[in-house]
Amino acid sequence: MFKTLVPADITEFAGKRAIVTGGSRGIGAAIVQRLLDGGASVVTTARNATDETPKGATFIQGDISTLAGVQAFAAAALRELGGVDIVVNNAAAARTHLGGIASIPDEEWLDALDLNYLSAVRVNNALLPALREAGAGGVIVNISSGSAILPGPPLAHYGAAKAALNTYGKALAAELAPAGIRVTTIMPGNVLTPGADVIRQNFADAMGVELAAITAGIPLGRPGDPRDIAEAVAFLASDRAQWITGTSLNVDGGELPAI
Ligand SMILES: NC(=O)c1ccc[n+]([C@@H]2O[C@H](COP(=O)([O-])OP(=O)(O)OC[C@H]3O[C@@H](n4cnc5c(N)ncnc54)[C@H](OP(=O)(O)O)[C@@H]3O)[C@@H](O)[C@H]2O)c1
Repeated sequence: MFKTLVPADITEFAGKRAIVTGGSRGIGAAIVQRLLDGGASVVTTARNATDETPKGATFIQGDISTLAGVQAFAAAALRELGGVDIVVNNAAAARTHLGGIASIPDEEWLDALDLNYLSAVRVNNALLPALREAGAGGVIVNISSGSAILPGPPLAHYGAAKAALNTYGKALAAELAPAGIRVTTIMPGNVLTPGADVIRQNFADAMGVELAAITAGIPLGRPGDPRDIAEAVAFLASDRAQWITGTSLNVDGGELPAI
């Protein structure tokens, strides 16, 4: 059962300009709402808005799986906000491939890398001049996955893309630290969202088990709520985390059996 959170401090992100990808639903929508609740101005994107897309944010329709799509979105977002202080790379899509890793076709590997890894690299590249211009205090949070460390075979390509995101984030953190810009990575575990629910059902069907079996055994006793990830983003994006950079944080109810 998800407990009620301590109300957000509405002054924490006052004056901050945030760009969040994939904020139309699920974890991204919770991140957008949490930053709004903290007083930030937020722009988000997805291919389609949903009923879940927070109304207080500016929604820019777009597809960030290509370089051209990212550049168009970044330019529109910067026009809207006049600059940027917080970047959250959340948009991604895990696509299961059953039948063996060697049978994953080249197009699926490239698709996985484009959306789950290169989209974040391209968004950051497009926004870095504006982040640098805003000066010390800028923050990038990349949303990775526990699959980066413990990839199930049907998600080998997704897990590899997320592992690349972790590694890239570490290098970027080192490069940007002298400018006072922090880069952190969050690795969610099983969080109940529209996108991930489909993946879990695919796994359950392939294994011939009930859906609930996929999230059974999480040490803290429940799957994640998107707000669990949004709280971690809010912390890492805030000055409370001013001495944290280059970190990859598991937020997974204790599920990942690794240090
Ligand atoms: N939920 C979990 O259990 C879990 C676990 C580990 C990691 N994660 C990570 O957490 C993040 C959010 O996952 P989620 O479960 O909230 O997924 P979700 O419910 O599928 O939401 C994904 C968001 O990304 C957007 N998106 C997807 N492809 C896009 C594209 N080409 N261009 C622009 N936007 C695009 C989607 O909107 P459109 O489809 O309309 O474009 C949507 O807003 C992802 O990085 C995911 O890898 C989730």
